Parts: sequence; structure tokens; C-alpha cells
Amino acid sequence: MVEALLEARNVVKQYGTVRALQGTDFSAYAGTVTALIGDNGAGKSTLVKCLSGVAMPDGGEIFLDGQRILLDSPTSAQRLGIETVYQDLALAYDLDAAANLYLGRELRRPGLLGMLGVLDKAAMRNGGAGALANLGVRLPAADAPVGSLSGGQRQSIAVARAVAWASRVIFMDEPTAALGVVQRERVLEVIRRVRDSGVAVVLISHNMPEVLAVADRIEVLRLGRRVARFAAGDVDVEDLVGAMTGALEASALGANDVEANDVEAGAQTGGEGNTNGGNGR
Ligand SMILES: Nc1ncnc2c1ncn2[C@@H]1O[C@H](COP(=O)(O)OP(=O)(O)OP(=O)(O)O)[C@@H](O)[C@H]1O
Ligand SMILES: [Mg+2]
Repeated sequence: MVEALLEARNVVKQYGTVRALQGTDFSAYAGTVTALIGDNGAGKSTLVKCLSGVAMPDGGEIFLDGQRILLDSPTSAQRLGIETVYQDLALAYDLDAAANLYLGRELRRPGLLGMLGVLDKAAMRNGGAGALANLGVRLPAADAPVGSLSGGQRQSIAVARAVAWASRVIFMDEPTAALGVVQRERVLEVIRRVRDSGVAVVLISHNMPEVLAVADRIEVLRLGRRVARFAAGDVDVEDLVGAMTGALEASALGANDVEANDVEAGAQTGGEGNTNGGNGR
């Protein structure tokens, strides 16, 4: 039985009168790409924020390695090896690429007598250049402020930063939305490489062919609830769109759901299959 590395149970998040998450479940597995899909407003970004310490859920539980965890800040998530590429990228636009890659985790040369050393700019420049080269990103100048770069270049920097630091889980909220064909392929390659290193990758994307190309398993959110889980090999674009829009019968999804999960991640349906909220499953 394969246990989820990261698991959300019955997570609720309310913004004023909007119930963004209405008791949703979610699982991600080590060495596996899990796509999190759903229509605009389904609650994907909100779920990612709850699982990366940016937003505090109003209810529910989060487990890492079977241990209940409390994520009260992005730093507490990062300490546990959880990194995120946010949909809004969360970059400091007045700093250059390398400074962004090391934002909050700056490298320092050892100081005298245990004093905090000076920033090791050369090491950060080299590390940053390597991380960007991995993604095939070319910048007009290494020291250009990120605010002066193109949308795709910024997105690549946000991806490179999360990849560089993730040791357990990486969330990527539409990491390829602004990318050209070549950079998109590079990001997909990087996703596979990170997956193969044992990290749990969670990919949010509206691009269904991309989801099917890179994901091992797929979880579907609708109206703030998880409504289906699939093994990627078992489904096509039509199935995914049907699940997202609710066009597929819940009963048909239920059958697929259990089978897909059994095949993909071992027999781990017990105790989970009955927590899918109010759609009768
Ligand atoms: N900070 C906020 N304040 C108020 N409402 C919010 C906030 N963030 C999200 N919401 C609401 O919560 C719901 C879910 O939003 P969320 O951003 O999680 O959707 P999403 O699935 O990521 O959509 P998209 O595909 O468009 O990115 C939406 O109805 C949205 O309006
Ligand atoms: Mg979103």
C-alpha cells in the first residue's frame, strides 16, 4: 500500500461569503506527478495556498508522511521541503534573477568570529545561472531586474526557484501558462526530472494535452470539492473535461476513481473513497 506523501482531508476555506474549498480532499505521492485540474474558480489555487502555508484553512487536516502538520507560514512549509510556483509568481520585480532565486535564503561567505558573513553574490550568480540554464532560459542580462523581463522569462525564474529548493513536494500553479513552445517543453522535462528524483510534483494546468503528457495521476476539483481521481493512462481529454464540468455521471466517475487509484498508487482507497463530499459517493 502506497501512502500519500502529502494529504489534505476535508479542507475548508472561506473568503467572506465565498466557500472556496468546501471540505476537499487531496493526495500527492512521492515520485509522482499529480495534476490538479478544475474549471476557473474551482479552488485549485486556494488549495495550493492552504497546502503551502500562504492561507490558513478554516477547517480540515493536512498530513505529511502520515503526520498531521500545521502550516502557518510559507516558511514553515519550506522547512518541510514544500515549494510552490504561485500563479502570480511572487517575484521581487526590482531584483535580478539570481537575487530572486535566493530571496530569503541568501548565501553568505562565512564571517569572522561567527559573525554573519557578507552576501556571496558570486556563488548566487553561478547557482542562479545554472538553475536557469537547466530550463533553457536566456536573459538579456544576468543583472536585469525581473520587472524588466518578459512574462515567460519571469515564469521560468519562478519555476527555477521552486525546483532548486523543493525536496519533498513542489506545487506548480500553471507554470507554463506564459511560456513559448521550447520553454514549455523544458519545464515539462524538468517536471519529469524532479519527479524521478522522488519529489511529489503537483501540476495545475488548464492545458489537457499537457496534463496527459506529464501527469501520472489526476485529481479533479469542482466547486471546492474533489470530485474524481484518475490514473492518467485510463483517461482522455473528454473524460477530464466531463469530470471538471460535471457532465460525467458521478457514478461513472466513482467506478473509474477506485480502479484508477488501485492501479496507480496501490490499494489506498480504503477510508478515502468515502470522503469525497456531497455528491453521493
Ligand atoms: N483572496 C480571495 N478573496 C476572496 N475570494 C477569493 C480569494 N481567492 C480566491 N477567492 C475565490 O475562491 C474561489 C476559488 O478561487 P481559486 O483562485 O482557488 O480558483 P482556481 O481553481 O485557482 O481558478 P483559476 O483556474 O481561475 O486559477 C473563487 O470563487 C474565487 O473568487
Ligand atoms: Mg488558480
